[in-house]
Amino acid sequence: MEKIYITTAIPYVNGVPHIGHAMDYCLADTYARYERLIGNEVKFQAGTDEHGNKIYLKAKELGVPVEEYVAENARKFQNFVQELDVSYTDFIRTTDDEHVKRCQEIWRRLKEHIYLAKYEGWYCTGCERFVTEKECEENGGVCPDHQKPYEKLEEENYYLRISDFKERIFEAITSGEMLILPEFRKKEILKLLEDSPDVSISRPRSQLTWGVPVPDDDSQVMYVWIDALANYITVLGFPDQDISEWWPARAQFVGKDILRFHAIIWPAILIGLGLPLPRTLVSHGMVLSDGQKMSKSIGNVVDPMEVLNRHGLDAFRYFFLRHIDTFADSDFTWEKYEAAYNNELANDLGNLVQRLATLAMKNSIVLGEVKVEMEPEYSELMDAFEFSKAFDLVWEKVQGINREIDEEKPWMLAKNGEVEKLEECIKKLITELLSANLMLEPFIPNAAEKIKAIFNDPIVPPETPLFVKNK
Ligand code: MSP
Repeated sequence: MEKIYITTAIPYVNGVPHIGHAMDYCLADTYARYERLIGNEVKFQAGTDEHGNKIYLKAKELGVPVEEYVAENARKFQNFVQELDVSYTDFIRTTDDEHVKRCQEIWRRLKEHIYLAKYEGWYCTGCERFVTEKECEENGGVCPDHQKPYEKLEEENYYLRISDFKERIFEAITSGEMLILPEFRKKEILKLLEDSPDVSISRPRSQLTWGVPVPDDDSQVMYVWIDALANYITVLGFPDQDISEWWPARAQFVGKDILRFHAIIWPAILIGLGLPLPRTLVSHGMVLSDGQKMSKSIGNVVDPMEVLNRHGLDAFRYFFLRHIDTFADSDFTWEKYEAAYNNELANDLGNLVQRLATLAMKNSIVLGEVKVEMEPEYSELMDAFEFSKAFDLVWEKVQGINREIDEEKPWMLAKNGEVEKLEECIKKLITELLSANLMLEPFIPNAAEKIKAIFNDPIVPPETPLFVKNK
C-alpha cells in the first residue's frame, strides 16, 4: 500500500464557483478514487485562497467586512466541492490562523534567498496595481477602467532570488523528477524559467493590507501567491510537523493558466525549504462556454448548480470527465450536455443495465461469485493521468456489451429452451458489465454504486431507469 497525497488549486473567493472551477476537483477526485480502488491510501487537500487586493476591494465595493465576505464565499466553494462528491480529506482556508503562522515561519526559513529592492513601474491608483510597460503602452498611458493616466511609482518589495534555484528546477523538469503534464507544456515552462527574473513576493502595507504580514517587517505584506502556494504544505502541518509521510505530493492539479506559478515559484520555495519537489504537475485545459472564455461581460458564465440540477451529479461528472478533454481546452454547451446525457448515459449505460437486469430476473439467473477485472490498458491511461481517454476506453466496452446482446440474442435462447447456454450468456454479459462498472467507479461513483447494488443476487431491475431520458 502506498501513501498518496493529491492537491487541487485553491480558488480565489472574489466570486462564486463557475463550471471551470469544477475541473481541478473532478480530475483530482477521479485520481483519488482510482488510487483508493487499487488499494492505496490517499490524502486529498482542497481549500480557498482568501487574501489579496482583488478580494479586499470586492468586499469594500459591496460594503461588507472582508472577513465576512471571504467566510461566506469560502462556504459556497466548500458546498460546491461537496455537491460534486469530491472525496477530499482536508480543507484549508488561507485565512486560518495556523496557515498564517506557518507561512511566516516558511518566510523566515527562506530568508537567505530573499532581498529587499526598489521597484519602479507604471501604476494605476484606481486599480491599485502596477501594469507592465507593454500594457501601459497599449492603453496609451491611460487606465481604461479609471480614465486616469498611469503614474510612475516606486515601491520597495521583497524579492525571491529565483536565480538561486534555476539550475536545480531545470534539472528536475528535464529529468522527469518533477513531471509536467501534458508533455508539450514542458518546453514552454523551460523557456519561461530560463527568462524568469527574481520575483517580487511582498507589497508595502500601504498598498496591500489584506494578506499575511511579513515577519519582522511591519511595513510589508506577503504577495498572495506566496501565501497561496504554501497551503499545500501548511495543511500537512509544515513546518511544525514532519510531513514526509505525505510529501512530496504524487499529483498537483492546476489549470494551465497557473502552471507557471507551480512550475517555477513553487519549486523554488520547496528547494529553499529543503523539501522534495512534487512528483507530477497535472495542468488541465480550460472549459469554454459556447467556444469562448467565460466572462461576466460576455454573459456566457455557466452556473454549475444549474448544470448539476439538470440531470444530477453522475451526468455532471460524466460530461466534465469525458467530453471535456483532460488536457485540451473544450467547450461546454447545453446542446452537447443534453446529447451526452440522452445518447450516452441514458442510452448506452442506462438501457444496458435495464436490459441485462430484466433478462437476469426473467430467467431467474443467480450470479454467484463474479470476477471483475480492470484492464491493463485502462490502468496505464489512469496512471498517466489520461482520464478522458481512459473514460473513452470504458465507454467502448459499454457499447461493445450492447452490441454483443444484439448479436447473441439471449431472448432467442430463452425461447428455444436452451437453458444452459442462456445462463452462460447472461452471466458473461453481466460480468463484462461489472468489469466496466469497476472502471467507471472513479468517474461516476454514485451510478457505479447503484449498478453494483442492482447486480447483487437476487438481481432486480431498478423501478425507474438509472437515467431518465428527456422527452
Ligand atoms: N487562487 C489561484 C490558485 C492558487 S493555487 C495555490 C487561482 N484561483 S482561480 O479561482 O482563478 O482558479 C482556480 C482554479 O480553477 C485554477 O486551477 C484555474 O485554472 C481553474 N479555472 C478557472 N477557470 C477555469 C476554466 N474556465 N476552465 C478550467 N479551469 C479553470 O488561480
